[in-house]
Amino acid sequence: MCGIVGYIGTKEAYPILIKGLKRLEYRGYDSAGVALINDNGQLSVYKTKGKVSDLETFVTRKDISGNIGIAHTRWATHGEPCSVNAHPHYSSSERLALIHNGIIENYALLKEKLQAKGFTFRSNTDTEVLVQLIEYIQVNHRTSLLTAVQLALREVIGAYAIAVIDREDPDVIIAARKSSPLVVGIGEGEFFLASDATPIVEYTDRVIYLDDGEIAVIRRGGALRVVNLNNVECPHEVQRVAMDLGQLEKGGYPHFMLKEIFDQPACITDCMRGRINVEGTNVVLSAVIDYKERLLAANRFIIVACGTSWHAALIGKHLIETFCRIPVEVEYASEFRYCNPVIGSNDVVIAISQSGETADTLAAVELAKTRGAFIYGICNVIGSSIPRATHTGSYIHVGPEIGVASTKAFTGQVTVLTMLALTLAREKHTIDKDQYLSIVGELQKIPDKMREVLQLNDRIAQLAKIFTYAHNFIYLGRGYSYPVALEGALKLKEISYIHAEGYPAAEMKHGPIALVDTEMPVVVIATQNGLYEKVMSNIQEIKARKGKVIALVTRGDTAISRIADTCLELPEMPECLEPLIATLPLQLLAYHIAVCKGMDVDQPRNLAKSVTVE
Ligand code: F6R
Repeated sequence: MCGIVGYIGTKEAYPILIKGLKRLEYRGYDSAGVALINDNGQLSVYKTKGKVSDLETFVTRKDISGNIGIAHTRWATHGEPCSVNAHPHYSSSERLALIHNGIIENYALLKEKLQAKGFTFRSNTDTEVLVQLIEYIQVNHRTSLLTAVQLALREVIGAYAIAVIDREDPDVIIAARKSSPLVVGIGEGEFFLASDATPIVEYTDRVIYLDDGEIAVIRRGGALRVVNLNNVECPHEVQRVAMDLGQLEKGGYPHFMLKEIFDQPACITDCMRGRINVEGTNVVLSAVIDYKERLLAANRFIIVACGTSWHAALIGKHLIETFCRIPVEVEYASEFRYCNPVIGSNDVVIAISQSGETADTLAAVELAKTRGAFIYGICNVIGSSIPRATHTGSYIHVGPEIGVASTKAFTGQVTVLTMLALTLAREKHTIDKDQYLSIVGELQKIPDKMREVLQLNDRIAQLAKIFTYAHNFIYLGRGYSYPVALEGALKLKEISYIHAEGYPAAEMKHGPIALVDTEMPVVVIATQNGLYEKVMSNIQEIKARKGKVIALVTRGDTAISRIADTCLELPEMPECLEPLIATLPLQLLAYHIAVCKGMDVDQPRNLAKSVTVE
């Protein structure tokens, strides 16, 4: 939610800021803006509704010089998307400019106090309240910018990552963090600031991740200082980040989402690298081995996640219960934190999050920690907040995911959950050796099988044309395929704006079947596994009501092809690994329908990739 970039050094700031905003555009894209201080000490703010490209057009023929600046791409929380509500926000006298990611919960109260002192506001945002408050303190208490920020933030309830510049002191950026991510990049005589490392990595690999309550004082020509709200110095560790810049580009694909779908074979290879031995006989997740006593002593596991990661969690439940015989509950992180969960020191909580920043998942982790649970994180973004808040965990190592609709992170999460279940089951002796060896062997074949499935792309692109005008879709699956159905429906909703529902296939007759008519496409995962015959009956029930069935079947299946309208064949696969390949055609179907509808696939309306607000 909202992307923040900052630069101070000897280079022109504007090109660096714009490039950074483009890298962060996945975080929000309803408006964008930049603030620069030029060599004459003039502070200029340029902002507009729309995308970063609209900002570039907007600044044509304007003074964009200066080697200090901050910039922002917005996902609206307070106030509709428009240029007035876009960031940066000026302070009252236009001396300060501030950008903000997060929500200031008590902004209404603070605003009232300032209004009572005669302040007026240009925008409807919580952010403008903060910058006005900072200037008020700076002027009335005759303090430095740093002290004013510290005093103002003490009054703030909520989440923030902020950066503020002052035309009276054009050599400093003050940046602060609480519950929203902020990374400082350290170059040669220059500093970078961003919501994640992606805008920074092409300039420097040395970064520090700010912790909650910390403020970075980034002064040109000086050393980086990190202090807290009470001005106590905070020791900070400089970390090295490694990122393949190619992963931040579309690499010839029309959209990041398509690239990321096609990246999955390579991503899953990366995810398994060093975790399965070369003979393909053993899988080891080091975090599971390191904490095996703690994990094996657990009464139960609770998995918390949101959205696509929650779907991966449902598959994780099946895997862990089947192979480890440990009871698993799966909770929406957003509900978990408010339902006063019964949780204690014998529980293990697994938090799954691609971004590692989802506010609800992070809050669920913090809550579980206070109740004494052991926390295991499964995340993608290295150094993000959730992995830092957990006791241990495993990264999925699928590289940066830029498309807002999650694809490769889902298969990466399911791969890690599979490896976790297998490692633990072997330690617990709840899986027999032959079954273990067979699944590990099949797991290794997943990248090749994914490549086979991706060859369906052209067929799916054709199929998509037929369904471009559908208003509704139903997705059905059973067992391991039920979460795949949910994920297929979510992908379609997110990027094509077609209403879609996922159901366990047998639940159809308890209500949703009333929706089926000649207009209703029903996608069924009907591979030859445990419940094949039953799923076939469900398909018959849909056909009897003249629904249009698109079935995912096991290669060579003839029975379903006789009744379904369209069959997409998948290679043979043990049931527990099937989500890793069955999801791909559903990602492609959603993608191609959205493209046929002319939708903005990588940046669908109303969504942002990293949901750092509640
Ligand atoms: C769907 C999607 C979202 C995320 C959800 C959780 O395509 O991307 O549903 O899965 O917002 O995000 P993370 O995994 O970053 O916690």
